[in-house]
Amino acid sequence: MERPKPDEIHSAVREFYARKAQAFEKECCGSGASCSCSMPNNYPAEELQTLPEDLADVTLGCGNPISGIEIRPGETVVDLGSGGGLDCLLAAQKVGAGGRVIGVDMTPEMIGKARANAARIGAANVEFRQGQIEAIPLADGEADVVVSNCVINLSPDKPAVFREMFRVLRSGGRVAVSDIVTRGPMSPSVAKSLESWAGCIAGALDVEEYRSGLLEAGFADVSVTTAGEGSCCGSSQPADGLPFSALIAARKPTP
Ligand SMILES: C[S@@+](CC[C@H](N)C(=O)[O-])C[C@H]1O[C@@H](n2cnc3c(N)ncnc32)[C@H](O)[C@@H]1O
Repeated sequence: MERPKPDEIHSAVREFYARKAQAFEKECCGSGASCSCSMPNNYPAEELQTLPEDLADVTLGCGNPISGIEIRPGETVVDLGSGGGLDCLLAAQKVGAGGRVIGVDMTPEMIGKARANAARIGAANVEFRQGQIEAIPLADGEADVVVSNCVINLSPDKPAVFREMFRVLRSGGRVAVSDIVTRGPMSPSVAKSLESWAGCIAGALDVEEYRSGLLEAGFADVSVTTAGEGSCCGSSQPADGLPFSALIAARKPTP
């Protein structure tokens, strides 16, 4: 069975998230073919308290990559597939005025939404760049931390994404990603459907492929753990062939 071509996947995903940007619907992976969830309960209430209440609703992620990692004042954080910008705005509070957060997203409607959200709260240390995560619009070694929430599974070229994450990180830089993964292969009929791809299901990598992909790109200390109860998307108890939400951590080694 023929898999959709990379350009077809990018177009389908872009169209899907352009519609999402126009109406941030409350739905989750379990409902239909979408991994797009409005699940502010992925985030500790005290973190969200610092933002206007309705901004928390812009999450379309499947976990919370920000809480799982120490982000220090002054650091540069890049968020791959930044969507409406919630993780960027949370990271911006951690890096403070001396740090920078760069959100990258290929969907112009999402970039527009994220910029409007940042402007609304006067976040001057956040910017949003339109681009693909397979060719991240950042210089070599520019970032201290790469975060991403429910995006890498959407890429038709994950090895390119892992190579780019490695390139834009400085030595010793860290990765904290929430993503949908599987244990064992997804059925070919699901993998063929563009709708399921846009909904984060068909493109999900097997846990071991995720780990080996990051190791091949050069990362060390790679871990892939179940996001657990309360996190969005798929089952909280991983079962063969079923998608579930995971937290992925890694580090770019120092020479
Ligand atoms: C499921 S949403 C997650 C948005 C955000 N991370 C969050 O947690 O709310 C996926 C986002 O990734 C973007 N995206 C998907 N594939 C991409 C790619 N290959 N390059 C850049 N952005 C991509 C989409 O436009 C969309 O905004």
